Amino acid sequence: MEYEKIEFIEAIKKLGERYSIEIKYDEDDKSKQFFTRLYEIHQLAADHFQKNLYSSTGEKVLKYLADRKLTEDTIKQFSIGYAEDSWDRLLSLIKTKKYPDDVINKSGLFSRTEKGIFDRFRGRIMFPITDMSGKVVAFGGRDFTGKSDAKYLNSSETPIYYKSNLLFGLSTTKEAIRKEKYLIIVEGYMDFLQLYQNEIYNIVAISGTALTERHVNQIRKFTDTVYLAYDGDDPGRKAAIRAGYQLLRGGISPQIIPVPEESDPDSWVKEKGPKPLLQSVKKAKELTSFHMEHCGLDLSRPSHRSQLAKEIISEIVNIRDEILRRYTVKQISEELSVDEDSLLRILSAQDRKRKLRKTAEKPELAVIPFTSSAEKAQFELVKLITSEELEIISFVKQYINLNSFTNNLLKNLTNALLTQYEKDGSFNFSRIIDIYQKKSDRDLVSRILLESSSHSDAKEVAVDCLITLEQYPIKQSISEQRLRLRELEKNGQDSLSTISKVVELQEQLKNLDSKRTELLNNI
Ligand code: CTP
Ligand code: MN
Repeated sequence: MEYEKIEFIEAIKKLGERYSIEIKYDEDDKSKQFFTRLYEIHQLAADHFQKNLYSSTGEKVLKYLADRKLTEDTIKQFSIGYAEDSWDRLLSLIKTKKYPDDVINKSGLFSRTEKGIFDRFRGRIMFPITDMSGKVVAFGGRDFTGKSDAKYLNSSETPIYYKSNLLFGLSTTKEAIRKEKYLIIVEGYMDFLQLYQNEIYNIVAISGTALTERHVNQIRKFTDTVYLAYDGDDPGRKAAIRAGYQLLRGGISPQIIPVPEESDPDSWVKEKGPKPLLQSVKKAKELTSFHMEHCGLDLSRPSHRSQLAKEIISEIVNIRDEILRRYTVKQISEELSVDEDSLLRILSAQDRKRKLRKTAEKPELAVIPFTSSAEKAQFELVKLITSEELEIISFVKQYINLNSFTNNLLKNLTNALLTQYEKDGSFNFSRIIDIYQKKSDRDLVSRILLESSSHSDAKEVAVDCLITLEQYPIKQSISEQRLRLRELEKNGQDSLSTISKVVELQEQLKNLDSKRTELLNNI
């Protein structure tokens, strides 16, 4: 598409011909039309948002952008716009053009609830996101109302927008990246725009998602020298380290630019111009050194040094590049004064485990460590929520009592999912995973989110889980009281009050059973 400036389907056909792969597509070219229309809607939306910016509703927004030192040239070049604080401005515009519902529903620009379909972006500064050929495929929107909890919101994923391989700005900056022979990755849209405006062109923004293997593959087409300029705070440094290891696993040995404390590339360059940032490229730290500096451990203690070494090893076991792997091991051995041979032994042990896991054909995935009936019910509820069936979600939301959750991770996760759904009308799993800092938590959460639940009687299952959860603590108390009872009777003590407590608890259990029946009858 990029080199020959052709449509998606055309490109697929050409590749099919070149590699003798038969491509099947609808006779009536329906899918081709579908893609063309998706692109059209996005261009229409981009034009609409831009027009708003220069109308009277956009005055304040223009002023805000000027205060943030974006010039008119930058605003125009990147087609920044404004989505009014309205539920259906874009929707009615698109509807006048008679697009099929299917296309509208799958455009990622609208949200759907019980009340129907409405504009996803309301009262937001709009940043168009383009694919490699420069076509608008999605938007990022920054809240301008001050009322939304989500400062930034993106289009949901669509057939033309996959977050895991798209880098903001790359279609504009790829030539500069090739020419300069290195790339600077920043986190935000505003970071990108401010640097670009200050003539630092060899950049991309990761814009809120974690760097994936596919991003790295994309980057490697243009350069293998990468600098990360993430925010100068704890979350920023942690994210930079995580992204750094992703790059390393993909064969790129990244360096990290120390952005001033509590600043970000946007404010840094806005205040000081491009020079300090460019000079710091020369002083950038290798990933492992940066990690050591910011790991929060006391590296004068051997046990902490070995802990960090193991942590780093687990990040680099599956580096594809053998030489890079050996080099990194050597480096951490020197910098942490840990014996290189023992590091290599740990590495090959972990590598064996990893290979074993790979060949073990996935049953690993099924092992999710929830054993009690209460935990199983909580887990099932999460699965029901993520099935994205509106009716089930609102049903669960109505009856759920988060205080009855016994597992903290599941409680947090459920809360995060419901909050996100309420706000955005859809889920963004990568952002949910990003809430968790510990790798083990992140892994577990991703596995939980990967699990799907398909019940033809989802509501019944939901009722069962909700009641089980409420009954669980009561059942626990009953067994406690029973133990006590036995104790009292053994000692010949008065047990009447304990007996009546048990009776009372059993009454509560029965009431919940009736509640279950009642709820089931109402379905
Ligand atoms: N981001 C996101 N969702 C959020 C917060 C951030 O997708 N809830 C992404 C956006 O792409 C944003 C980037 O992460 O540009 C960086 O986030 P942050 O540093 O919070 O934003 P800034 O660029 O500093 O935002 P601003 O300067 O506009 O306040
Ligand atoms: Mn920032």
